[in-house]
Amino acid sequence: MHLLLEFLLSLMKIGWICLLAFWKFFNPFKSKKNLERDIVLITGAGSGIGRLMAIRFAKLGAKLILWDINREANEAVATEIRELSKIAHPYVVDCSKREEIYRVAEQVKREVGEVTVLVNNAGVISGKKFFDVADKMADLTLQVNTAAHFWTVKAFVPAMIAKNRGHILTIASSAGMFGVAGLMDYCASKHGAVGLHESLTSELHTLGMDGVKTTLVCPYYINTGMFNGVKTRLPRILPILKPEFAVNKIMEAFHSDQYLLMTPRILYLFYLLQPILPKYAMLEAGKFFGVDRSMDTFVGRQKND
Ligand SMILES: NC(=O)c1ccc[n+]([C@@H]2O[C@H](COP(=O)([O-])OP(=O)(O)OC[C@H]3O[C@@H](n4cnc5c(N)ncnc54)[C@H](O)[C@@H]3O)[C@@H](O)[C@H]2O)c1
Repeated sequence: MHLLLEFLLSLMKIGWICLLAFWKFFNPFKSKKNLERDIVLITGAGSGIGRLMAIRFAKLGAKLILWDINREANEAVATEIRELSKIAHPYVVDCSKREEIYRVAEQVKREVGEVTVLVNNAGVISGKKFFDVADKMADLTLQVNTAAHFWTVKAFVPAMIAKNRGHILTIASSAGMFGVAGLMDYCASKHGAVGLHESLTSELHTLGMDGVKTTLVCPYYINTGMFNGVKTRLPRILPILKPEFAVNKIMEAFHSDQYLLMTPRILYLFYLLQPILPKYAMLEAGKFFGVDRSMDTFVGRQKND
């Protein structure tokens, strides 16, 4: 095709996609997806936003596959879901171990069926300054927060592609978009998850898989316990989020097939400014908002040493 014609066609497609996105954003008649036919797998379902998402998905009628390293917590979430007369299958999985992910993935397919919604949520944090992080902990952070996404995607996404139907949610973090002092291993792992998610989305698009949706979730700190002790200087503008609020936003993003969710909204402004402003101007802005020292008071769950 003539290059100019191709260019005009691309321009029309781009315009159409932007119009659709605009409509989706402002559409006052937003509807929820019916998940009666769906099997939703959530890693790290035993606590925090993983647990809350599991309950929300179950209420929408989906069968839940709960993965967590913590057997007791995972079983407790399964019980909560069954008490709602919904279906939950808990599995103990250490997401830092590739072979374990593949083995349990096969077990899930045999025992429950093909996963149609994959939520890569399990995460760990050392909360140490880079030179204080034990090598083992930095390794674990990369394994759980990044590498596990590779293995779950490889295990479950081919079946979505075969039917051109499915959804992958990557629970990354604003630390996957910006670098934060005291979070080097965590930031690196979340930037990895963001990169993985972006290229997965490109690959699905290249394959013409318009029925397999992807949602990248990049929240600021959430009050789940994982980041216990962190401080924000201007809570009205850059608040530490309530887990329920974060999960409301995630579910909205899921229902509307939103590609990128950053919350609170001011993060979109930082994201926009990041490539425009000089790096040290951004760091000064971070200082003003207290982000630079936010990790100084971190205590976390104090079990990852
Ligand atoms: N809490 C925050 O401030 C915050 C902010 C942005 C992004 N996130 C991300 O959201 C996700 C959920 O975090 P949360 O705040 O609910 O934390 P959380 O600690 O409450 O939940 C994490 C879950 O992952 C599980 N897990 C840890 N290691 C695992 C492993 N090796 N295999 C399987 N499961 C494992 C834990 O047992 C736990 O149930 C994480 O990926 C986190 O990085 C959290």
